[in-house]
Amino acid sequence: MPRPVLVLDFGSQYTQLIARRVREQHVYCEIHPCTMPIEEIRALEPPAVILSGGPASVFAEGAPSVDRGVFELGVPVLGICYGMQLTSHLLGGEVEAANEREYGPAELSVGRPEGLLGSFEPGEAVHVWMSHGDRVKRLPEGFEVLGHTKNSPFAAVGDLSRRIFGVQFHPEVVHTPRGDEMLRAFLFDVAGVAADWTPGSFVEQSVAAIRAQVGDGKAVCGLSGGVDSSVAAVLVAKAIGKRLTCVFVDNGLLRKDEAKRVMDMFRGRLDLEIVHVDARKEFLDALAGVDDPEQKRKIIGKVFIDVFDREAKRIDGVKYLVQGTLYPDVIESVSFKGPSVVIKSHHNVGGLPERMNLELVEPLRLLFKDEVREVGAAMDMPHDVLWRQPFPGPGLAVRCPGAIDEEKLDVLREADAILDEEVRAAGYYEKLWQSFCVLVPVKTVGVMGDGRTYEWVIAVRAVESRDGMTADWARLPHELLAKVSSRIINEVRGCNRVVYDISSKPPATIEWE
Ligand code: XMP
Repeated sequence: MPRPVLVLDFGSQYTQLIARRVREQHVYCEIHPCTMPIEEIRALEPPAVILSGGPASVFAEGAPSVDRGVFELGVPVLGICYGMQLTSHLLGGEVEAANEREYGPAELSVGRPEGLLGSFEPGEAVHVWMSHGDRVKRLPEGFEVLGHTKNSPFAAVGDLSRRIFGVQFHPEVVHTPRGDEMLRAFLFDVAGVAADWTPGSFVEQSVAAIRAQVGDGKAVCGLSGGVDSSVAAVLVAKAIGKRLTCVFVDNGLLRKDEAKRVMDMFRGRLDLEIVHVDARKEFLDALAGVDDPEQKRKIIGKVFIDVFDREAKRIDGVKYLVQGTLYPDVIESVSFKGPSVVIKSHHNVGGLPERMNLELVEPLRLLFKDEVREVGAAMDMPHDVLWRQPFPGPGLAVRCPGAIDEEKLDVLREADAILDEEVRAAGYYEKLWQSFCVLVPVKTVGVMGDGRTYEWVIAVRAVESRDGMTADWARLPHELLAKVSSRIINEVRGCNRVVYDISSKPPATIEWE
């Protein structure tokens, strides 16, 4: 990989966003905790360093800091918000606790168009987004003001000779519309980095790295058909060919015709070595009568590991396990703040590597989700594989509250297939984060022809989201909902009522369990 621009994390909710904005400029960067020892920082030879914001006050006891050595690396440094206050604090300036927090939009008046403001005009007014408590009172020696706002005389500052800059606002958020321009000026004009981080170069470098790691060994990969495992598998297969075996486990909780679709695509079209395991009975037997959501998830996770382990052992001499871990998971485990509270246990394959005594190959561990799709596209993977909506590991089990059985799953699968067809036909599939049906295990009365019916309720869930962390229910056209409802009730036996879920996340979650 190229030498990374280093983003040092002080616990800001925006740290990932900074990294994404840098990557969008085709510049490779890595996030590391602010506590990274200076020798390790030096060893990475970063062409530039960005200090993130953070929730702390530089005065607070145990406030996160950074080795002063970062200012002596001789490379440009940009401190954002807390990063700027800390820079001032460490280099001999003065920071004061503000009486009140400044939060929201502000107008930056450009004084000297230098450094990250290099592309602006003197006197220009620029919309920026502020979010800070403390503020700089006196600048360290060598620093000058590049821009100010009404409440912040030192909104953008810099030591031009040492190429150290600070901004009190957040250039990485969308509410700073010209933030990209500022980051570009910092990266390209000030630091002179190359825009050489492209999907094509990533594929080339990864293939070489995978070959170096695996040598002439054999690897196994759990393929779900989802974007991450699919791209990981194709990338590894590109490096080691048929020495990679993919294992596709049909757990009986998949959508209609999913197993066939995955097999046709990966064995047929993409020519991967793939084992299809029909474990439907094993999963459904283990789940029989279990109605607690967490218990259901645990059972599914455990049976998956049993099945996968058994299948992998049949492959002679396998030493490596391919996983589609993404950069956000990696950051989560190294980030400055601790991991957030577990609302639902999400480990689909947690525990696999330990149990199987295999060495991990994680070819996507440096990528964000959108980059995974770009890498897939660079390998000519089909559009519909790369743009599939997320599907949870526990599958339809979390879309059928309470105890599940074959009968309920069949009703759910049929209804869900109709929704999927109509959402695609209306051109909404890729606009939605997810769209799916839920079987509500309640029977209600209906009337069909001259007869009374007494059947299940189907709930339709369709949400918009950027990352699954928050979501809003989609305002789908009434005509589309009407068509879906009428088709489900008419065509699916076992349900006589369709409702639309109009809950946002939070406080609801996307899946029903
Ligand atoms: P919730 O329901 O927590 O879901 O709002 C957020 C996103 O995560 C997906 N999800 C899962 N994905 N294993 C997964 O791989 C799981 O156990 C799991 N549970 C939820 C969900 O589909 C949504 O996109």
